[in-house]
Amino acid sequence: MKKVILAHPYSAEAVERLRRDFELVLADQEGGLPACCRRHADAEALISFLSDPVGRDLVASLPRLKVIANFAVGYNNVDVAAALERRVLVTHTPDVLTQATADLAMALILAASRRVVEGDALVRAGDFHGWQAGLLLGKELNGSVLGIVGMGRIGLAVAQRARAFGMKVVFYSRGPKPQVERKFGFARVTFLELIRSADVVSLHLPYSPGVHHLFSHDVFALMKRDAVFVNTARGPLMDEAALADVLARNELFAAGLDVYEEEPKVNDRLRKLQNVVLLPHLGSATGATRRRMAMMTVEAVRQALAGRKPKHLIPEWKERLKKK
Ligand code: DGY
Repeated sequence: MKKVILAHPYSAEAVERLRRDFELVLADQEGGLPACCRRHADAEALISFLSDPVGRDLVASLPRLKVIANFAVGYNNVDVAAALERRVLVTHTPDVLTQATADLAMALILAASRRVVEGDALVRAGDFHGWQAGLLLGKELNGSVLGIVGMGRIGLAVAQRARAFGMKVVFYSRGPKPQVERKFGFARVTFLELIRSADVVSLHLPYSPGVHHLFSHDVFALMKRDAVFVNTARGPLMDEAALADVLARNELFAAGLDVYEEEPKVNDRLRKLQNVVLLPHLGSATGATRRRMAMMTVEAVRQALAGRKPKHLIPEWKERLKKK
């Protein structure tokens, strides 16, 4: 039986499905992923989580590896160059988590704009002493401008939700998106125009070193002083310390974060601020979505180990196959 390494526990149904066809090794029961890979060097598939760095050394420690099935849509944890060099297929889980992640981005937009978490804390602390005209005043979404940075599947799903809240949507994307402009009427603007005009900025770009700290101190300084910043994409897209600075000085109204630069670490100053809502990377965290993601990794492993092309290869692999 071919050997498959699963980095951490996930959907029981997916585990059962894997066990039917493969010898399944659970890395958490084998001293963690690097130790497990050394011990089971004959493994042919690895199911990794976004929290697992799958670097060159790890790939090299599995000489028979044929596929890395990443249990996430983002795959910046995987050294893609190393995988391509070794001809190890890499797959991810697009589409199935789009709606769940868009819901969470919208939840953060609402929570940060309307001070939902501060209100909850106030009530729990016994500090609600009756209705007051000036209590926890927030920002209205209706009529405000939402700037989507990265108009992919998730960005578009957030934009559609925001429209139902009466927001005007503009977006920034590296390439033109004529269909999005034509079909939905969302306007593509330059990054600078977006940053300067948006009342809410929501980040939906994949991470790559080229966009490290895209949201730097200088960029935050260009945003409206009463803007809301939301990041459900990847932590290193923003300079967390710079964000803490502008929030502490009330140079932004609020922020909503689901991701951090060095997860699970969160900037200490951010944790002490009231005007930021902090979530523990819950973008795709619904039972149904996580189950679908897990089943996609199972399918990817089954396809790859049967010598077929997995359906959800990462774009770099699709590009390589196109060239052939
Ligand atoms: C992903 O799949 O990349 C998300 O960040 C998971 O929540």
